[in-house]
Amino acid sequence: MANHVTPISIITKDSLAGWLEANPRHQRWIESTGFKAEPGSFTLLPATDGGIERVLAAPADGDATWSLAGLSTQLPEGQYQFDADMDADAATNAQLGWALNSYAFTTYKARSKTPATLIAPHKADQGKVSRLSEAISLSRDLINTPAQDMGPEHLAATAEAIAAKHGAKLRVLRGEQLLDNNYPTIHAVGRASAKAPTLIDITWGDDNAPKVTLVGKGVCFDTGGLDLKQPASMLTMKKDMGGAAVVLGLAQALMDAKLPIRLRVLVPAVENSVSANAYRPGDIIRTRAGKTVEIGNTDAEGRLILCDALHEADSEAPELLIDCATLTGAARVALGPNLQALFCDDDETAAALQATSMKVGDPMWRMPIWRPYRKHLDGKCAEMNNVAPIAQGGAIFAALFLAEFVSQAKTWVHLDINGSNDATRPGRPEGGEATGLRPLYEYICQRYGAA
Ligand code: BES
Ligand code: MN
Ligand code: ZN
Repeated sequence: MANHVTPISIITKDSLAGWLEANPRHQRWIESTGFKAEPGSFTLLPATDGGIERVLAAPADGDATWSLAGLSTQLPEGQYQFDADMDADAATNAQLGWALNSYAFTTYKARSKTPATLIAPHKADQGKVSRLSEAISLSRDLINTPAQDMGPEHLAATAEAIAAKHGAKLRVLRGEQLLDNNYPTIHAVGRASAKAPTLIDITWGDDNAPKVTLVGKGVCFDTGGLDLKQPASMLTMKKDMGGAAVVLGLAQALMDAKLPIRLRVLVPAVENSVSANAYRPGDIIRTRAGKTVEIGNTDAEGRLILCDALHEADSEAPELLIDCATLTGAARVALGPNLQALFCDDDETAAALQATSMKVGDPMWRMPIWRPYRKHLDGKCAEMNNVAPIAQGGAIFAALFLAEFVSQAKTWVHLDINGSNDATRPGRPEGGEATGLRPLYEYICQRYGAA
């Protein structure tokens, strides 16, 4: 039985009756088990010897990538193959969804069950499937790893491995080196931790190719700082390096695809911690850009570490500058857990990226960088405050703060992401998630021309 492959036939509520007419032997099983081919359901058809002859599976409603993905953990262990001839996109999506559904975080606990194996559909793009499933698994692992084992140094080690594999250049600044190289804001936020604040800087590709720069928020744990978070809010904050995880996974995928771009990745990595030397409410930091920022709340730390990294990224005037950050709870209040907030002043880029995100089943929704609100970020004793004195519109204020540090990039995209699946859905197990990675990959490939 070791090499036995069980076929999976894809059916729908409407096609079930016709299928049974052609396969009358299974009529009684379908009737007696009451299988109706409801979207997302499946049935195992028995063989005369008691084995499984075939699986009948009805795709779940919604996105192509996920409609059959749940099968990998629902079917009994073994090998399976879709019997339909899928076109290349459908085949790639089905195989990728299956792989992503089979992910488990196994560093500290073994899997409870071996997922079913899918024989690759004929037309699936194997390069793309492995590239994306590896990138997403890497991001998920980074996010799921608790802060005790995922500090700035671990992110730097991950970046080093990725850079070495693809022949990229890596520069890492740690602790005092951040002050020596004028990254005062990253240092201020991270200095209270026993783990030194760090800036990771990867460059790859031909210097004359279009410049694409990715910046990811790498807060390895967010206690809130002296403005300490409540327990329920702090509980999930190992994921506050989700933006860093997404840009590192994405960078790996783009380099693996050998995209003709000059890629740069900047990850400010810190722990927002509490100690006698912690930065305080009321402190004023002169940022890398020279602007002074008054600290209204030490829990709005993401925008602070990002402002120095964004200013550096912007100074090269990249064609495309993208930052990803688990930046605000307010983005989740506005859009719920499963839509990522997309901010971009360029209508064409925003529309294209949003459309791509819908197509790949990792949706983003555009929100405005609403300049009339900017005045609420004026500081009393400094040029800016890191928070607004009003409770609403938090995701917009975070975007407006970041916008102050971007002026030369041709296009700037800011993504305020969740970085997790708060509940399990097909293809997306509960826990760390590379929210936004696949849409960004597809969009960048479309724009800079490679499959
Ligand atoms: N990392 C949090 C935002 C967050 C919270 C992301 C929950 C994902 C889930 C961020 O550093 C933060 O604490 N933001 C504050 C900002 C406030 C102090 C202006 C927030 O959203 O409450
Ligand atoms: Mn915070
Ligand atoms: Zn944070």
